[in-house]
Amino acid sequence: MPGEPSGLEEILARARGEIGEAATPQALTEVRARYLGRKGSISSELRALGKLDPAQRKVRGQAVNAAKQRVEELVAARRSELEGGERARELADNQVDITLPGATPPAGHLHPLTHVTRDMVNFFASMGFSVEDGPEVETDWHNFEALNIPPEHPARDEQDTFYLEGGNLLRTQTSNVQIRAMTGRTPPLRFIAPGRVYRHDTSLKHSPMFHQIEGFLVDERVTFGDLKGVLFAFARHLFGADSALRFRANHFPFTEPSAEMDVRWRGEWLEWGGCGMIHPHVLERCGIDPEAWQGFAFGMGIDRTALLRWGFPALRPLFEGDVRVLEQV
Ligand code: DAH
Repeated sequence: MPGEPSGLEEILARARGEIGEAATPQALTEVRARYLGRKGSISSELRALGKLDPAQRKVRGQAVNAAKQRVEELVAARRSELEGGERARELADNQVDITLPGATPPAGHLHPLTHVTRDMVNFFASMGFSVEDGPEVETDWHNFEALNIPPEHPARDEQDTFYLEGGNLLRTQTSNVQIRAMTGRTPPLRFIAPGRVYRHDTSLKHSPMFHQIEGFLVDERVTFGDLKGVLFAFARHLFGADSALRFRANHFPFTEPSAEMDVRWRGEWLEWGGCGMIHPHVLERCGIDPEAWQGFAFGMGIDRTALLRWGFPALRPLFEGDVRVLEQV
């Protein structure tokens, strides 16, 4: 600034230099204080005005104020430069490649048994059956006696049944739910009952706990043909349209007549479950008049169904929680 009163030009030149060199907002604040702070050089020029006579003071005052304002402007410009630079650095340091595929969180999935059970329940729900639950710790009556299984029957053999203190037992079949669901109810009835069952079995192919699903229907006129129709549809739902089912005469104490059913799977016939017309004694024990009502019942292994469906070689891996097995589903 040519023609300005002495000193200020030098001060301004120094200020300009120092402001330009300030590398951080913090350093810039310090530079500003050296000029405009309480002990700053421009501030002391302002204080010195008081010693001048009025005419000089006016001229000098304008010059000092102009210098002060100039320094403020330079500081402000430098500050925005510094802050802009910081932001730019920040952005450069945190670059995100928005074209990268996102990280997929590992998602859990349903256990094969849950999967099959839900599939079964959905099928029967669509046919008007509701799900009925039953206890796993059961009385002799519900698991055996009411199902027409007398005390000397081989199914009660201690080899098979886990007996508990006090005479109760772990249910060996979901058929106990037939008794619980029919007692005290008036037909027509349609139920399915999936759940855990327990049997002593030390062979490696078996597990002492496995799953069954029971189904039963009681109405005024029910035939073995109705039972077959439902089971054929069920098999087609689970194993596909070209699956096949066959019935072999068999004996169960709680059905008459009784049959065992096999499903054809990859060219082989495999045992799948049992079925039959509910024995009149069973209906009677549940307080249902067998002259007025008839019913069919069936039961099959859920685990077995899962094995067939996914081609697992054995049951145990289903219960061991090895994710390498479970991930194949
Ligand atoms: N409870 C039988 C079992 O565990 C399976 C079974 C057979 C269930 C015939 C039934 C049935 O309802 O009618 O081997």
